[in-house]
Amino acid sequence: VRSDRESMLIVNSWAQKYFTTQLYEHQEGKAAGLRYFAERGFREDTIRKFQLGYSLDQRDALYKAATKSGYKKEFLEKTGLVIAYDNGGVNDRFRGRVIFPVHTLSGKVVAFGGRVLKKDEKTAKYVNSPESEIYHKSNELYGIYFAKQAIVKADRCFLVEGYTDVISMHQAGVENVVASSGTALTQGQIRLIHRFTTNITVLYDGDAAGIKAALRGIDLLLEDGMNVKVVLLPDGEDPDSFARKHNASQFAEFIRQNETDFIRFKTRLLMDDAGTDPIKRSALISDIIRTVAIIPDNIARSLYIRECSAMMEIDEMLLLNEVNKIRLNKE
Ligand code: CTP
Ligand code: MN
Ligand code: MN
Ligand code: MN
Ligand code: MN
Repeated sequence: VRSDRESMLIVNSWAQKYFTTQLYEHQEGKAAGLRYFAERGFREDTIRKFQLGYSLDQRDALYKAATKSGYKKEFLEKTGLVIAYDNGGVNDRFRGRVIFPVHTLSGKVVAFGGRVLKKDEKTAKYVNSPESEIYHKSNELYGIYFAKQAIVKADRCFLVEGYTDVISMHQAGVENVVASSGTALTQGQIRLIHRFTTNITVLYDGDAAGIKAALRGIDLLLEDGMNVKVVLLPDGEDPDSFARKHNASQFAEFIRQNETDFIRFKTRLLMDDAGTDPIKRSALISDIIRTVAIIPDNIARSLYIRECSAMMEIDEMLLLNEVNKIRLNKE
């Protein structure tokens, strides 16, 4: 007999093909979905590769088609493809949205993200599959299935925020890229990347929120012994919009020129922020000390202590002592 997990994966695999069929063959899919992707500059081979799709703007189009093909309500509900109500009503979760399937490392579809075509205040921009027996969001990274070989080859992984960032970068020829899908990076996601490389470059939006997001979550990477670099994109750009305005070699060149070691980046950012205010400066020094203390490798840590003390114009031995105090307290 089949386990629930297997049945859920089978339903998702069917749904992925169903969404793709609607995109290419249904009038609404072509007029709304294909046009939307075209306006975003997604090529046909890209749409095929990422198995993108379209969900009809109807109450239960998927539910009806699935039932007709013999799929059970139980598994449609468990995967979150439909929402069943106490009064017996059943609604599709995704309606009138373009669909981004989420693949595991081995290529199984465990979830979907659906984007509205036109953003307004009332509707959420993205609707996503719920957590389920086959989908633990914190252990998945969007794009890992399509990126793994390129990550090994480049010995580096780019980390971005969203679905469209991953897709546009692929189109621009950068394939070693995954997305955390808008949430802070988790230990499980870091472990996934760590199987393929220890070098990670975080590519976040060049606005205040992007900078904050870049500073958050990175301590987890350092703790794991990863070498972390940061690239800030120009204000108002995300990797998707940036990749569309530049060709592959311009994109690569921008990254090459703007890639900054994370700790150096953080130190400089906090220094600019603190100016000459002594209280702010001492707070920033404590912050940097805590970050440097996380680095597990002794040699890397001592090199950072030297560099950060120079940047902050404080005595190297003082910094070393403070870092060691924190490390002793942790043991
Ligand atoms: N996200 C989400 N739900 C939302 C908003 C965002 O799940 N309501 C996730 C999606 O995975 C999205 C990522 O967070 O891809 C980044 O969000 P955002 O930058 O707002 O979206 P973009 O990916 O840039 O999408 P678009 O370019 O289509 O606006
Ligand atoms: Mn599980
Ligand atoms: Mn943003
Ligand atoms: Mn974005
Ligand atoms: Mn975007």
